[in-house]
Amino acid sequence: MKFFSAFFTFVLAFAFLLTQGCTKKNDTILIGNYGSMTGAEATFGLSTKDGITLAIEEINVAGGINGKKVDMKVYDNGGKPEEARLSVEKLINVDNVVAILGEVASTRSLAAAPVAQQYKVPMISPSSTNPEVTKKGDYIFRVCFIDPFQGMVMAKFAFNSLNLKKAAVLRDSKSDYSMGLADYFTKTFTELGGTIVADEKYQSADVDFKAQLTSLKTKAPDFIFIPGYYTEVGLIARQARDLGLTVPLLGGDGWDSPKLFEIGGDALTNSYISNHFAAEDPRPEVQKFVTSFKARFGVEPDGLASAGYDAANILFEAMKKAKSLEGSELRTALAQTKDFKGATGVISLDENRDAVKSAVILKIESGKFKYVETVNP
Ligand code: PHE
Repeated sequence: MKFFSAFFTFVLAFAFLLTQGCTKKNDTILIGNYGSMTGAEATFGLSTKDGITLAIEEINVAGGINGKKVDMKVYDNGGKPEEARLSVEKLINVDNVVAILGEVASTRSLAAAPVAQQYKVPMISPSSTNPEVTKKGDYIFRVCFIDPFQGMVMAKFAFNSLNLKKAAVLRDSKSDYSMGLADYFTKTFTELGGTIVADEKYQSADVDFKAQLTSLKTKAPDFIFIPGYYTEVGLIARQARDLGLTVPLLGGDGWDSPKLFEIGGDALTNSYISNHFAAEDPRPEVQKFVTSFKARFGVEPDGLASAGYDAANILFEAMKKAKSLEGSELRTALAQTKDFKGATGVISLDENRDAVKSAVILKIESGKFKYVETVNP
């Protein structure tokens, strides 16, 4: 008798586990996210993840996608390209995700995209702007503009709006993003009639930039263009001011982090960047997002959070339209994204799977980004 009841309990428990397993699998759509949640670019990964999380919570409250809830598996790569590649391998082969959101930094998207392409799992980068990223294959998308546009926007702004004619460039030779953006900026700036009086290099994780700054100071630039990420940029700004360089500092989206102000402080006053998003943008999509994000996370969203939110919502739209969640069907639906009203702008994907959309210019004033203008493609 005892044996039978134990056996019966066992069978029941087994059947229960089985149905649970199946229910979970059938009722949930698992997507992947990989990013830098730790290290010198930690806010990139964390903000992006928060933006995606909000989008997932909203879609689930609204009933999910064709009745299924969305769930997410996240991997931290600590800012390392090789870890980024391994994360995508795990997301695909261990977790069986149907689509992947990431990375932020172009160097890491470039390292990981070939894996997504190989397994035909759609990957959407929220904010990698180097043109090469989507050239890795037809399963690789992005919802942001690319650096030839961003570089042109800042070159024109410096030359025409700020009336600055002599630029010094300080670029990160270990970052595909930085190297590309420096080149695109240079191209437009010289075409306009401006001069590049110095072009210096550093490497991600450097902390002392005095040699480069001392050298470019002797060329008396009207401003310094620094297409880098926030940790190095904050230090560069301080050291530039310490060396008596008072000229404006200009940069791109890589400056976007609340940590920038902690690191750079007052040294950043009178700086300008191009970016994906301005919290002051009055469009209703933007204000709704800013309000929900603040309510959920207690802080104002940055550009990364907004781009993560848009990437997730564009993926969900495609999932609703796709014939199935097979990689090839999802890919086809994603490629048709048109006039999507996102927090980072109105997004249409072109034949290269890049977004055609506007950029915003922000000015740094009393430890905050202030909206200056929107530039259309
Ligand atoms: N565009 C950067 C890159 O491609 C990443 C980035 C986007 C950083 C937005 C900050 C804000 O590497």
